[in-house]
Amino acid sequence: MGGVNCATAYLLVLPITLILAMIHLSFLHGKHFPRQYLLSTSFFPQNETHKITQPHEPPPSEPPATGSPPPRRQSFPYTTSFIPQNTTHNKTTKPHALPSSEPPATASSPPTVRKKSSLEKIEDGLARSRAAIRKAVRAVNFTSEKEVESTFIPSGPVYRNPRAFYQSHVEMEKRFKVWTYKEGEPPLVHQGPVNDIYGIEGQFIDEMEGGKSRFMAHHPDEAHAFFTPFSVAKVVQFLYRPLVSYSRAPLHRVVLDYVNVVSERYPYWNRSNGADHFMLSCHDWAPDISGANPELLKNVVRALCNANMSEGFRPRRDVSIPEINIPRGKLGPPKLGVRRSRRRVLAFFAGGAHGHVRKVLFEHWKERDDEVLVYEHLPKNLSYFKMIGQSKFCLCPSGYEVASPRIVEAIDAECVPVIISDNYSLPFSDVLDWNRFSIQIPVTSIPEIKTVLKAVSSRKYARLANGVRSVKWHFTLNRPPKPFDLIHMVLHSIWLRRLNFRLPNR
Ligand SMILES: *[C@@H]1O[C@H](CO)[C@@H](O)[C@H](O)[C@H]1NC(C)=O
Ligand SMILES: *[C@@H]1O[C@H](CO)[C@@H](O)[C@H](O)[C@H]1NC(C)=O
Ligand SMILES: *[C@@H]1O[C@H](CO)[C@@H](O)[C@H](O)[C@H]1NC(C)=O
Ligand SMILES: *[C@@H]1O[C@H](CO)[C@@H](O)[C@H](O)[C@H]1NC(C)=O
Ligand SMILES: *[C@@H]1O[C@H](CO)[C@@H](O)[C@H](O)[C@H]1NC(C)=O
Ligand SMILES: *[C@@H]1O[C@H](CO)[C@@H](O)[C@H](O)[C@H]1NC(C)=O
Ligand SMILES: *[C@@H]1O[C@H](CO)[C@@H](O)[C@H](O)[C@H]1NC(C)=O
Ligand SMILES: *[C@@H]1O[C@H](CO)[C@@H](O)[C@H](O)[C@H]1NC(C)=O
Repeated sequence: MGGVNCATAYLLVLPITLILAMIHLSFLHGKHFPRQYLLSTSFFPQNETHKITQPHEPPPSEPPATGSPPPRRQSFPYTTSFIPQNTTHNKTTKPHALPSSEPPATASSPPTVRKKSSLEKIEDGLARSRAAIRKAVRAVNFTSEKEVESTFIPSGPVYRNPRAFYQSHVEMEKRFKVWTYKEGEPPLVHQGPVNDIYGIEGQFIDEMEGGKSRFMAHHPDEAHAFFTPFSVAKVVQFLYRPLVSYSRAPLHRVVLDYVNVVSERYPYWNRSNGADHFMLSCHDWAPDISGANPELLKNVVRALCNANMSEGFRPRRDVSIPEINIPRGKLGPPKLGVRRSRRRVLAFFAGGAHGHVRKVLFEHWKERDDEVLVYEHLPKNLSYFKMIGQSKFCLCPSGYEVASPRIVEAIDAECVPVIISDNYSLPFSDVLDWNRFSIQIPVTSIPEIKTVLKAVSSRKYARLANGVRSVKWHFTLNRPPKPFDLIHMVLHSIWLRRLNFRLPNR
C-alpha cells in the first residue's frame, strides 16, 4: 500500500499539461468519480470549463449490459491459417432477428423506430468480412480479382495463406475502426516514448490519437475494438523514480484504475468482458499488467514485445509485436545491407551480457571464432550496422526478455535472422511463416550454431534471404503508415482477433 500512496502523491504534484489534457476531456464528468479511484482522481483533469472542446456526442445511455454473457469465441486455427470458420450461420446469433425483439429493458431510452443497432451493424460488417476472406481463399483466379489501390500484393512462401491475408487486409482497411479512450492524461496515458527500444508504444499511441488514422472511430458505437492508451514504459518512468522498488503494485494500480473507470462509464467493456479491448506495450514488465486482476483482464488482447509463452503470453489471444529500436529523428535503423555475394561474415552478434541466453552464447562464442563473430564490446574499428549489413546471418538472442530489436535490424539489412530463444511467440505468426525467412535455434543448441549455419546450402540461403527481403516491408515503420507496413501489421493482428468472435446481440 505504501507504493500506492507514494504513486498517488507523486501524481498529484505532476505538472498538469492542461493543453494536452483538454484534448482528452470529451467525456469527462468529474463529479461522477467514484472516490475509491485514488489514482484516477489525480490523473483525470478536474476543470469543467475545459469541456468546450467536446468533439463528440456523449455516448447514448443504452441499458448497461450487466451480466451479459461472455462473447462467443470461435476457435480459429491461427497457427496454421486464419481463415474464419463459419460463424454466421446459426439462427440464434444471427443479427437480423428484427422487430419482434423486445424493447430495451430500461425505460430510460426513448422509444424510437427500430433501426439496426450499432452493434448489429458492426457484427454484420464483420460477418461480411469473414465471408469475403473465405471467398478469396476459395477463388481460383485470385490474382485477377484485385481492384485495389494498394500496389503491394502478398505472394510467395513467406505467407501462410497469401490470399487470406490479402483479403483480410483489404477488409480491415475498409472496415476496421478503433476507439481510443479519452480518459486519463499524459504522461501516463496518451503518450509514450517515441524513440529507442520502447518507441513503438509512443508511435502507436500517437498514430491512433493523431486524428488522421483511417482506423480511428469517431464514436465508440462504431468501433470494433477499443484501445486503452496507457504506456507501461511511461508508467515505469514516472512512478518508479527513484527506482527503489520493483513491486508491480503501482503499475497494477494504474491499469486497474483505467479499466475500472472506462468500464463504469461506458457499456463496452462489460459487453464483451474486455475481449474487444486491447493494450499495447513493448516494456519488459508489460505482461505483468494482467496480475492487476487476472479475472477481470483475462479476455483483453495484450499486444506485447515481450511475448514469452512461459510468462503467460497466449498466442491466440495476445499479439506479438516486434521490438524496434527507433533512433531520434528517424523511424528505423540505417539500411546498410550489401549485396548477397559481398557478405563476408557468416554470423554476427554484438551486445551486452543481458539475461541467461546471452550468458550461454558468450560462454561458447564470445570472440572465439573467426566465422561466428560474437562480441560483448564491438572493437572500435567496426561499425555495428555495417557488420549487420555485411553478414549472412545475424544472431538475435533473447536478452532480459524474449524480444530483441536485432530481428528488425537484421531484416532491414537483409541479413537472415537467427533467433535464439525459448518460448518466444514470434510477431505476426498468424500471417508469416518464420521458417521461410529465419533460422530458429533453441537455447540448448547454442553450441551447434556454427554447424547449423554451415549446413544451410546456398540454395536454401538464397531462399531465406529472398524471404527476408519480401517481409521487410511488414517490419517497416512509416508515419503516416502505409498498407501492409508495421503499424498495419499490428492492427491487422488485432483485427484478426476481433474477427474471431462475435458479440452477443441483446
Ligand atoms: C478552470 O480553468 C480556468 C481557465 O483555465 C481557470 O480560470 C479556473 O480558475 C479553473 N478552475 C478551477 C476550479 O481550477
Ligand atoms: C460453412 O458454410 C457453408 C455454406 O454456408 C457450408 O457448405 C459448409 O459446410 C460450412 N462449413 C462448416 C465448417 O460448417
Ligand atoms: C451452431 O449450431 C450448431 C448446432 O446447433 C452447434 O453445434 C454449433 O456449435 C453452433 N455454432 C455456433 C458458432 O454457435
Ligand atoms: C476468373 O477470371 C476470369 C477472367 O479474368 C473471369 O472471367 C472469371 O469470372 C473469374 N472467375 C472467378 C470465379 O472469379
Ligand atoms: C460493468 O460491470 C462492473 C462490475 O460488475 C460494474 O461495476 C459497472 O457498473 C458495469 N458498468 C456499466 C457501464 O454498467
Ligand atoms: C519453453 O521452452 C522449453 C525449452 O524449449 C520447453 O521445454 C517448454 O515446454 C516450453 N514451455 C512453454 C510453455 O512453451
Ligand atoms: C580491427 O582491429 C583489429 C585489431 O584490433 C584487427 O585485427 C582487425 O583486422 C581490424 N578490422 C578491420 C575491419 O579493420
Ligand atoms: C520467459 O519466462 C520464463 C518464465 O518466467 C523465464 O524463466 C525466462 O527467463 C523468460 N525468458 C526470457 C528470455 O526472459
